[in-house]
Amino acid sequence: MTQDELKGLVGQAALQHVVPGEIIGVGTGSTVNRFIDALATIKDRLPGAVSSSNASTERLQALGIRVFDANEVGELAVYIDGADEIDRRGFMIKGGGAALTREKIVAAQAKRFVCIADESKLVDALGRYPVPVEVIPMATQRLVRQFAALGGTAKVRLIDGVPLVTDNGQHILDVAGLRITDPPGFESEVNQWAGVVSVGVFARQKAAVCLLGTAGGVRTLAF
Ligand code: 5RP
Repeated sequence: MTQDELKGLVGQAALQHVVPGEIIGVGTGSTVNRFIDALATIKDRLPGAVSSSNASTERLQALGIRVFDANEVGELAVYIDGADEIDRRGFMIKGGGAALTREKIVAAQAKRFVCIADESKLVDALGRYPVPVEVIPMATQRLVRQFAALGGTAKVRLIDGVPLVTDNGQHILDVAGLRITDPPGFESEVNQWAGVVSVGVFARQKAAVCLLGTAGGVRTLAF
């Protein structure tokens, strides 16, 4: 099966975790896009969704799914999102789609994080994928030096040669060369650095379950 087919498989399988009658939290990315397409087939059973990005909001609305502001609703039963890496404890790297801050906000509002990913995303230790960090632009060069002191190489994410601007109007640093053996400690440390909006290590908002797309079908990992 191709990676795209595996994404379709887990996007469809995630429907089993949607609670009928409850507003669902929806992440961002190509795997989630497949989930949103599947969600449209049961939209009559849902009041709507809270979305983690402008891109997901547009896709949800185009398919006739109502999108609520996070402040309009209380705790969500479930948040469904992809990951760039997930380890065997449910800790993740996220933010490849630059939506990490809103993803963390919606995940924090939900009781359960259901991760959907193809098997290439499962790792023994986080860090092969460069860690995305949303930053306030005036802090960029100092933060680059702070990551260098940890052994990381941080680069501003560019689109067509200019810094990518997130949905929150900020920039992304992608930090390569880190091996993150203590995700909760790393997240806590970097979160405190002045100028960091949020770090793409999801340790506090880790997955409760991962639906992993494999050649043999969907494997469910519970953490
Ligand atoms: C976006 C994310 C995505 O969940 C992550 O990048 C995985 O994306 P994809 O499903 O396209 O592989 O964190 O900010």
